Amino acid sequence: MAETLLALRGLTKIFPVGRHESLRAVRSVDLTLKRGESLGIVGESGCGKSTIARMVAQLTEVTDGQILFEGRDVTRLSRSQRRELWRNVQMVFQDPYSVFSPRMTVGDFLTEGLVHFGIASRSQARDMLPELLGRVELPVELAERLPHQLSGGQQQRVVIARALSIQPKLLILDEATSALDVSVQRQILKLLMRLKDEMDLTMLFIGHDLAVVRSVTDRIAVMYAGQLVEELPGEGLREQASHPYTRRLLDSVFSTGDRGRKQIAIEDLSLIDRGRRMEGCPYQPRCAEAQARCANECPRLRTVGDGHGIACFAREK
Ligand SMILES: Nc1ncnc2c1ncn2[C@@H]1O[C@H](COP(=O)(O)OP(=O)(O)OP(=O)(O)O)[C@@H](O)[C@H]1O
Ligand SMILES: [Mg+2]
Repeated sequence: MAETLLALRGLTKIFPVGRHESLRAVRSVDLTLKRGESLGIVGESGCGKSTIARMVAQLTEVTDGQILFEGRDVTRLSRSQRRELWRNVQMVFQDPYSVFSPRMTVGDFLTEGLVHFGIASRSQARDMLPELLGRVELPVELAERLPHQLSGGQQQRVVIARALSIQPKLLILDEATSALDVSVQRQILKLLMRLKDEMDLTMLFIGHDLAVVRSVTDRIAVMYAGQLVEELPGEGLREQASHPYTRRLLDSVFSTGDRGRKQIAIEDLSLIDRGRRMEGCPYQPRCAEAQARCANECPRLRTVGDGHGIACFAREK
């Protein structure tokens, strides 16, 4: 059995909204990630995916709960401990251009992490450029270019190469392919799958498109309004998925066939859906199978099979 790299225990984030209200963006989430595994987090806009990622990377403070990284709680770190965490946890975001400095060459950008963390001297790092760029299937000539002289797909490859340059223990990709053209997106997903195998990467891959998330992950966590509603192996997803919300996501993925696939419909999530409701199942207002108790009681995630958990009263036998 592979060792656990990351464990979230009752992870909660509450944002103050206005003077008297608060928004429970992430509600008591439990998740584990083993070394070499790739876990997907999927759910529609505003369900708390990025907030989880940002808490894991210590870019957002945790309200409650624990984040165990290699068994150690990393929710209250000193500045130097946080730096050490950033050496081990790298994040790739949706918009690659925003990460670059406009006047910094690709080569300088790529070697920055190696130098910053004292892994290599500047000249040693320059010598590594062919390897770093080759890893993401880019020619070494690109090292002399400025970021605006690259395509969006090339920019994201460079950002991935930089994240991997310091050999992090965990790579978090937050909607990393969402802004790209479908064909470019497909290439980057293929690249990620290859890198995952070759480098034995541990990945947290976040997205709103279930088919995309499924294509690069071993296991999938489905979130709704800050809560984990189902967790299951990617294999057999179609057959095993059982939560009414997961089923709906699946239907919207497969109903139009793969080619004409529309994005999962992100309906007008009303504010009550957005985590303001303090009791009851968050999905209850939209659920076709809701029962009386769903309005007052919140279901907890129960194990129903191997690696399969579900939080739904309608699925209790
Ligand atoms: N700094 C903040 N202050 C207040 N509310 C916030 C803050 N950051 C996020 N939120 C709220 O928390 C909820 C979860 O946001 P989050 O960005 O995690 O969603 P997401 O699942 O990543 O959505 P998307 O798919 O659009 O990226 C949203 O309702 C959002 O408005
Ligand atoms: Mg997000």
